[in-house]
Amino acid sequence: MIVTTKVLFDHAYGNYAVGAYNINNLEQIMGLFRGNMDSKAPFIVQLSKGARSYTDKRMLEAMIRTANEIFPDAIFAVHLDHGDEETCYECIDSGFYSSVMIDASAEEFDKNIEITKRVVDAAHAKGVVVEAELGKLGGVEEHVSVDEADAKLTDPRQVEEFVKRSGCDSLACAIGTSHGAYKFTGSQGLHFDVIEEIARLLPGFPMVMHGSSSVPQEEVQRINAAGGKLAGAKGVDEAQISKASKMGVTKVNIDTDGRLVWCRVHRESFIESPEHFDLRPPGKIFMAEYARYIAHKNEVLGSAGQLDAVRKIL
Ligand code: G3H
Ligand code: 13P
Ligand code: ZN
Repeated sequence: MIVTTKVLFDHAYGNYAVGAYNINNLEQIMGLFRGNMDSKAPFIVQLSKGARSYTDKRMLEAMIRTANEIFPDAIFAVHLDHGDEETCYECIDSGFYSSVMIDASAEEFDKNIEITKRVVDAAHAKGVVVEAELGKLGGVEEHVSVDEADAKLTDPRQVEEFVKRSGCDSLACAIGTSHGAYKFTGSQGLHFDVIEEIARLLPGFPMVMHGSSSVPQEEVQRINAAGGKLAGAKGVDEAQISKASKMGVTKVNIDTDGRLVWCRVHRESFIESPEHFDLRPPGKIFMAEYARYIAHKNEVLGSAGQLDAVRKIL
Protein backbone atom coordinates (compact mmCIF):
# COMPACT_ATOMS: atom_id res chain seq x y z
CA MET A 1 0.00 0.00 0.00
CA ILE A 2 1.39 3.39 -0.97
CA VAL A 3 1.17 6.05 1.75
CA THR A 4 2.71 9.50 2.25
CA THR A 5 5.95 9.90 4.15
CA LYS A 6 3.99 12.17 6.53
CA VAL A 7 2.02 9.19 7.86
CA LEU A 8 5.25 7.25 8.36
CA PHE A 9 7.10 10.15 9.99
CA ASP A 10 4.26 10.96 12.40
CA HIS A 11 4.47 7.41 13.70
CA ALA A 12 8.27 7.23 13.77
CA TYR A 13 9.33 10.61 15.16
CA GLY A 14 11.60 10.32 18.17
CA ASN A 15 11.44 6.53 18.30
CA TYR A 16 12.82 5.21 15.05
CA ALA A 17 13.66 6.17 11.47
CA VAL A 18 12.21 4.90 8.21
CA GLY A 19 14.68 3.53 5.68
CA ALA A 20 14.61 5.29 2.30
CA TYR A 21 16.24 3.02 -0.23
CA ASN A 22 17.25 3.98 -3.78
CA ILE A 23 16.33 1.49 -6.46
CA ASN A 24 17.13 1.20 -10.16
CA ASN A 25 16.09 -2.23 -11.33
CA LEU A 26 14.01 -5.35 -10.87
CA GLU A 27 16.41 -7.20 -8.58
CA GLN A 28 16.71 -4.25 -6.20
CA ILE A 29 12.93 -3.87 -6.06
CA MET A 30 12.40 -7.56 -5.25
CA GLY A 31 15.17 -7.59 -2.64
CA LEU A 32 13.86 -4.37 -1.11
CA PHE A 33 10.28 -5.54 -0.72
CA ARG A 34 11.37 -8.97 0.51
CA GLY A 35 13.74 -7.47 3.12
CA ASN A 36 11.07 -5.13 4.44
CA MET A 37 8.51 -7.91 4.64
CA ASP A 38 10.99 -10.20 6.40
CA SER A 39 11.70 -7.50 8.99
CA LYS A 40 8.08 -6.25 9.10
CA ALA A 41 9.05 -2.66 8.41
CA PRO A 42 7.40 0.31 6.71
CA PHE A 43 9.78 1.85 4.17
CA ILE A 44 10.35 4.42 1.43
CA VAL A 45 11.19 3.51 -2.15
CA GLN A 46 13.12 6.37 -3.62
CA LEU A 47 13.85 7.09 -7.25
CA SER A 48 16.51 9.52 -8.37
CA LYS A 49 16.44 11.31 -11.70
CA GLY A 50 19.18 8.96 -12.87
CA ALA A 51 17.18 5.91 -11.83
CA ARG A 52 14.10 7.19 -13.65
CA SER A 53 16.04 7.51 -16.90
CA TYR A 54 18.20 4.37 -16.50
CA THR A 55 15.65 2.38 -18.50
CA ASP A 56 12.42 4.35 -18.67
CA LYS A 57 10.57 5.81 -15.70
CA ARG A 58 7.44 3.90 -16.74
CA MET A 59 9.35 0.64 -16.43
CA LEU A 60 10.47 1.43 -12.90
CA GLU A 61 7.04 2.64 -11.85
CA ALA A 62 5.36 -0.44 -13.33
CA MET A 63 7.75 -2.70 -11.40
CA ILE A 64 6.95 -0.91 -8.14
CA ARG A 65 3.20 -1.20 -8.83
CA THR A 66 3.67 -4.90 -9.47
CA ALA A 67 5.73 -5.34 -6.30
CA ASN A 68 2.82 -3.72 -4.46
CA GLU A 69 0.63 -6.56 -5.77
CA ILE A 70 3.17 -9.30 -5.07
CA PHE A 71 3.65 -8.04 -1.50
CA PRO A 72 0.14 -6.90 -0.47
CA ASP A 73 1.19 -6.37 3.16
CA ALA A 74 3.86 -3.80 2.30
CA ILE A 75 3.35 -0.22 3.49
CA PHE A 76 5.61 2.26 1.74
CA ALA A 77 5.95 5.73 0.27
CA VAL A 78 7.12 6.40 -3.29
CA HIS A 79 9.53 9.30 -3.22
CA LEU A 80 11.45 11.35 -5.79
CA ASP A 81 15.04 11.74 -4.55
CA HIS A 82 16.95 15.00 -5.24
CA GLY A 83 14.40 16.43 -7.64
CA ASP A 84 14.73 19.63 -9.59
CA GLU A 85 11.63 21.77 -9.99
CA GLU A 86 10.58 20.37 -13.35
CA THR A 87 10.93 16.73 -12.26
CA CYS A 88 9.00 17.48 -9.06
CA TYR A 89 6.04 18.78 -11.08
CA GLU A 90 6.21 15.76 -13.37
CA CYS A 91 6.10 13.39 -10.39
CA ILE A 92 3.38 15.35 -8.59
CA ASP A 93 1.21 15.31 -11.72
CA SER A 94 1.81 11.60 -12.34
CA GLY A 95 -0.36 10.66 -9.35
CA PHE A 96 2.06 7.84 -8.50
CA TYR A 97 4.52 9.56 -6.17
CA SER A 98 3.35 10.25 -2.62
CA SER A 99 6.38 12.39 -1.83
CA VAL A 100 8.95 14.49 -3.68
CA MET A 101 12.22 16.09 -2.72
CA ILE A 102 12.99 19.50 -4.13
CA ASP A 103 16.72 19.98 -3.85
CA ALA A 104 17.44 23.66 -4.24
CA SER A 105 20.20 23.51 -1.63
CA ALA A 106 22.76 24.92 -4.07
CA GLU A 107 20.76 28.18 -4.19
CA GLU A 108 20.99 31.03 -1.70
CA PHE A 109 18.62 30.92 1.27
CA ASP A 110 15.83 33.11 -0.17
CA LYS A 111 15.96 31.51 -3.60
CA ASN A 112 15.89 28.03 -2.02
CA ILE A 113 12.74 29.05 -0.11
CA GLU A 114 11.13 30.56 -3.21
CA ILE A 115 11.64 27.41 -5.30
CA THR A 116 10.67 25.08 -2.47
CA LYS A 117 7.47 27.07 -1.80
CA ARG A 118 6.39 26.79 -5.46
CA VAL A 119 6.83 23.02 -5.32
CA VAL A 120 5.08 22.78 -1.94
CA ASP A 121 2.04 24.67 -3.30
CA ALA A 122 1.78 22.39 -6.32
CA ALA A 123 2.37 19.24 -4.26
CA HIS A 124 -0.02 19.99 -1.43
CA ALA A 125 -2.78 20.76 -3.93
CA LYS A 126 -2.49 17.10 -4.96
CA GLY A 127 -1.94 15.53 -1.53
CA VAL A 128 1.79 14.99 -2.14
CA VAL A 129 4.30 15.87 0.59
CA VAL A 130 7.61 17.64 0.12
CA GLU A 131 11.14 17.19 1.45
CA ALA A 132 13.46 20.18 1.05
CA GLU A 133 17.17 20.60 1.75
CA LEU A 134 18.99 23.28 3.69
CA GLY A 135 22.77 23.21 3.99
CA LYS A 136 25.17 21.42 1.70
CA LEU A 137 26.35 17.84 1.95
CA GLY A 138 29.85 16.99 0.83
CA GLY A 139 30.40 14.65 -2.11
CA VAL A 140 28.79 14.52 -5.52
CA GLU A 141 25.09 14.52 -6.22
CA GLU A 142 23.59 13.92 -9.59
CA HIS A 143 23.04 17.50 -10.66
CA VAL A 144 24.98 19.31 -7.95
CA SER A 145 28.68 18.87 -7.42
CA VAL A 146 29.79 20.05 -4.01
CA ASP A 147 33.44 20.11 -3.05
CA GLU A 148 34.20 18.83 0.43
CA ALA A 149 35.52 22.31 1.21
CA ASP A 150 32.20 23.83 0.19
CA ALA A 151 30.09 21.42 2.21
CA LYS A 152 28.16 23.39 4.79
CA LEU A 153 26.38 22.03 7.81
CA THR A 154 22.79 23.17 8.23
CA ASP A 155 22.64 26.26 10.41
CA PRO A 156 19.94 25.56 13.02
CA ARG A 157 19.24 29.30 13.29
CA GLN A 158 17.91 29.27 9.71
CA VAL A 159 15.72 26.21 10.01
CA GLU A 160 12.62 27.68 11.63
CA GLU A 161 12.33 30.48 9.09
CA PHE A 162 13.01 28.10 6.21
CA VAL A 163 10.30 25.65 7.24
CA LYS A 164 7.77 28.37 8.03
CA ARG A 165 8.24 30.29 4.78
CA SER A 166 8.59 27.29 2.46
CA GLY A 167 5.88 25.10 4.00
CA CYS A 168 7.96 21.95 3.47
CA ASP A 169 6.97 18.76 5.33
CA SER A 170 10.44 17.47 6.15
CA LEU A 171 13.96 18.79 5.92
CA ALA A 172 17.17 17.22 4.67
CA CYS A 173 19.84 18.58 6.98
CA ALA A 174 23.57 18.54 6.41
CA ILE A 175 24.84 16.95 9.62
CA GLY A 176 28.25 15.73 8.56
CA THR A 177 27.54 13.03 6.00
CA SER A 178 28.19 12.97 2.26
CA HIS A 179 26.98 10.82 -0.61
CA GLY A 180 28.96 7.85 -1.87
CA ALA A 181 31.48 5.37 -0.45
CA TYR A 182 34.11 7.82 0.81
CA LYS A 183 32.48 9.83 3.54
CA PHE A 184 35.19 10.20 6.13
CA THR A 185 38.97 10.04 6.17
CA GLY A 186 39.35 9.80 9.94
CA SER A 187 37.13 9.46 12.96
CA GLN A 188 34.58 12.09 11.91
CA GLY A 189 30.92 11.33 12.43
CA LEU A 190 27.49 12.87 12.79
CA HIS A 191 27.06 16.33 14.29
CA PHE A 192 24.63 15.48 17.06
CA ASP A 193 24.74 19.06 18.32
CA VAL A 194 23.09 20.21 15.07
CA ILE A 195 20.43 17.46 15.23
CA GLU A 196 19.71 18.29 18.86
CA GLU A 197 19.36 22.01 18.22
CA ILE A 198 17.04 21.56 15.24
CA ALA A 199 14.87 19.16 17.26
CA ARG A 200 14.74 21.72 20.06
CA LEU A 201 13.73 24.56 17.75
CA LEU A 202 11.25 22.52 15.74
CA PRO A 203 9.94 19.78 17.99
CA GLY A 204 8.24 16.98 16.06
CA PHE A 205 9.46 18.21 12.68
CA PRO A 206 11.02 15.35 10.67
CA MET A 207 14.67 15.59 9.75
CA VAL A 208 16.14 13.62 6.85
CA MET A 209 19.66 12.27 6.76
CA HIS A 210 21.17 11.86 3.31
CA GLY A 211 24.43 10.05 2.73
CA SER A 212 23.64 7.47 5.40
CA SER A 213 25.29 4.36 3.98
CA SER A 214 27.51 2.65 6.52
CA VAL A 215 29.80 1.16 3.84
CA PRO A 216 30.26 -2.15 5.73
CA GLN A 217 33.97 -2.91 5.88
CA GLU A 218 33.32 -6.59 5.29
CA GLU A 219 31.72 -5.70 1.95
CA VAL A 220 34.64 -3.47 1.03
CA GLN A 221 37.17 -6.19 1.91
CA ARG A 222 35.28 -8.83 -0.06
CA ILE A 223 34.97 -6.52 -3.08
CA ASN A 224 38.69 -5.72 -2.96
CA ALA A 225 39.56 -9.42 -2.52
CA ALA A 226 37.53 -10.09 -5.66
CA GLY A 227 39.46 -7.56 -7.75
CA GLY A 228 37.78 -4.31 -6.69
CA LYS A 229 39.61 -1.10 -5.86
CA LEU A 230 37.79 0.62 -3.03
CA ALA A 231 40.67 1.50 -0.75
CA GLY A 232 39.69 3.85 2.06
CA ALA A 233 35.93 3.56 1.59
CA LYS A 234 34.20 4.52 4.85
CA GLY A 235 30.63 5.19 5.92
CA VAL A 236 28.50 6.22 8.87
CA ASP A 237 28.84 4.21 12.05
CA GLU A 238 25.66 2.19 12.64
CA ALA A 239 25.54 3.06 16.34
CA GLN A 240 25.42 6.73 15.33
CA ILE A 241 22.59 6.03 12.88
CA SER A 242 20.60 4.32 15.64
CA LYS A 243 21.19 7.26 17.97
CA ALA A 244 20.10 9.83 15.35
CA SER A 245 16.98 7.76 14.64
CA LYS A 246 15.75 8.47 18.16
CA MET A 247 16.49 12.19 17.99
CA GLY A 248 14.11 13.32 15.25
CA VAL A 249 15.90 11.99 12.17
CA THR A 250 12.95 10.07 10.69
CA LYS A 251 14.20 9.31 7.16
CA VAL A 252 17.56 7.72 6.49
CA ASN A 253 18.69 7.62 2.86
CA ILE A 254 20.66 4.64 1.63
CA ASP A 255 21.90 3.97 -1.87
CA THR A 256 25.63 3.22 -1.80
CA ASP A 257 25.35 0.19 0.51
CA GLY A 258 22.96 -1.47 -1.94
CA ARG A 259 25.43 -0.87 -4.76
CA LEU A 260 28.17 -2.46 -2.66
CA VAL A 261 26.08 -5.59 -2.11
CA TRP A 262 25.48 -5.76 -5.87
CA CYS A 263 29.19 -5.28 -6.62
CA ARG A 264 30.35 -7.91 -4.10
CA VAL A 265 27.84 -10.54 -5.22
CA HIS A 266 28.66 -10.17 -8.91
CA ARG A 267 32.44 -9.95 -8.49
CA GLU A 268 32.52 -13.05 -6.29
CA SER A 269 30.10 -14.91 -8.50
CA PHE A 270 32.17 -14.47 -11.64
CA ILE A 271 35.40 -15.38 -9.84
CA GLU A 272 33.90 -18.49 -8.23
CA SER A 273 32.27 -19.66 -11.45
CA PRO A 274 34.28 -18.31 -14.38
CA GLU A 275 32.53 -20.72 -16.71
CA HIS A 276 29.09 -19.23 -15.90
CA PHE A 277 27.54 -16.59 -18.11
CA ASP A 278 23.94 -16.73 -16.97
CA LEU A 279 22.56 -13.59 -15.30
CA ARG A 280 20.10 -15.46 -13.10
CA PRO A 281 22.42 -17.18 -10.56
CA PRO A 282 24.10 -13.93 -9.38
CA GLY A 283 20.77 -12.12 -9.71
CA LYS A 284 19.13 -14.59 -7.32
CA ILE A 285 21.99 -14.32 -4.85
CA PHE A 286 21.81 -10.53 -5.03
CA MET A 287 18.07 -10.43 -4.31
CA ALA A 288 18.53 -12.64 -1.23
CA GLU A 289 21.59 -10.74 -0.01
CA TYR A 290 19.99 -7.34 -0.56
CA ALA A 291 16.90 -8.49 1.34
CA ARG A 292 19.18 -9.61 4.18
CA TYR A 293 20.93 -6.22 4.16
CA ILE A 294 17.60 -4.33 4.25
CA ALA A 295 16.29 -6.42 7.15
CA HIS A 296 19.51 -5.79 9.09
CA LYS A 297 19.39 -2.04 8.38
CA ASN A 298 15.80 -1.82 9.55
CA GLU A 299 16.94 -3.30 12.89
CA VAL A 300 19.54 -0.52 13.10
CA LEU A 301 16.91 2.13 12.31
CA GLY A 302 14.34 0.65 14.67
CA SER A 303 11.74 0.38 11.88
CA ALA A 304 11.86 -3.43 12.01
CA GLY A 305 8.70 -4.75 13.64
CA GLN A 306 6.73 -1.49 13.23
CA LEU A 307 4.60 -2.57 10.27
CA ASP A 308 1.53 -3.75 12.20
CA ALA A 309 1.53 -0.66 14.40
CA VAL A 310 1.62 1.58 11.30
CA ARG A 311 -1.20 -0.42 9.69
CA LYS A 312 -3.39 0.24 12.72
CA ILE A 313 -3.16 4.02 12.36
CA LEU A 314 -3.90 4.13 8.62
O1 G3H B 1 21.91 11.03 -3.58
C1 G3H B 1 21.98 10.46 -4.66
C2 G3H B 1 21.61 9.03 -4.74
O2 G3H B 1 22.64 8.23 -4.24
C3 G3H B 1 21.19 8.69 -6.12
O3 G3H B 1 22.28 8.41 -6.96
O4 G3H B 1 21.74 9.92 -8.84
O5 G3H B 1 23.35 8.03 -9.12
O6 G3H B 1 20.91 7.58 -8.87
P1 G3H B 1 22.06 8.49 -8.56
P1 13P C 1 24.54 7.13 0.31
O1 13P C 1 25.42 7.49 -0.84
O2 13P C 1 25.25 7.27 1.61
O3 13P C 1 23.91 5.80 0.18
O4 13P C 1 23.35 8.22 0.35
C1 13P C 1 22.25 8.11 -0.51
C2 13P C 1 21.38 9.29 -0.51
O5 13P C 1 21.51 10.20 0.28
C3 13P C 1 20.31 9.34 -1.51
O6 13P C 1 19.62 10.55 -1.51
ZN1 ZN D 1 20.85 12.23 -1.08
